[in-house]
Amino acid sequence: MIIALLLIAYFLGSLAWSVWIGRWMFGIDLREHGSGNAGATNAFRVLGKQAGTLVLVLDVLKGFAAVKLIHLLPADQQSVIAMLGLGFLAVFGHLFPIYVGFRGGKGIATLLGVVIALHSGAALLAMGVFVAFLLATRIVSVSSMAAALSLPLWLIYRFKEPSEVLIIFSFAIALLVLITHRKNIVRLLRGEENKVKLKRKRAE
Ligand code: G3P
Repeated sequence: MIIALLLIAYFLGSLAWSVWIGRWMFGIDLREHGSGNAGATNAFRVLGKQAGTLVLVLDVLKGFAAVKLIHLLPADQQSVIAMLGLGFLAVFGHLFPIYVGFRGGKGIATLLGVVIALHSGAALLAMGVFVAFLLATRIVSVSSMAAALSLPLWLIYRFKEPSEVLIIFSFAIALLVLITHRKNIVRLLRGEENKVKLKRKRAE
């Protein structure tokens, strides 16, 4: 049963909303525009505020729903480890979506949904880090990486007795986010990274 749910979590994570919304509503492949990333930030940048919000909400929801699959297991099989597995597979699906040639996004919105489902308090703290960095730098990638790097701290702090698996999961996720942001890191080092502008209707 758990294997079937892990597969469903992967298929949920694979739902490539940014690519599909770009294709269906704007007739473009988002991965050929802006930063080239199939995610909410690039959807905001290229497709505009409404489409970006839609992608963000749907991507958060799929991560959340994947972890909540835990309730389909018998009570004695429900565990934090199983939830972490479901969440990991959802993020993995977002990075390598089966429906659109395995070229997905960087996992931040999906990860947010996963963490909300795991522990809403930890999610709030991570979002606080994201907002603080966004206000200070106006760079989404820096804010995403800072929030992801702070995640082990919040998860370990909020789960009173964190298991080894939870600790490994949170550090692995933080590392994964750094890897998915490697092109952003290069742009940051070159001083070429995109900054959020206050008023912007539609970007290049
Ligand atoms: O969530 C992804 C974000 O951190 C960076 O996106 O499009 O600026 O590479 P982007």
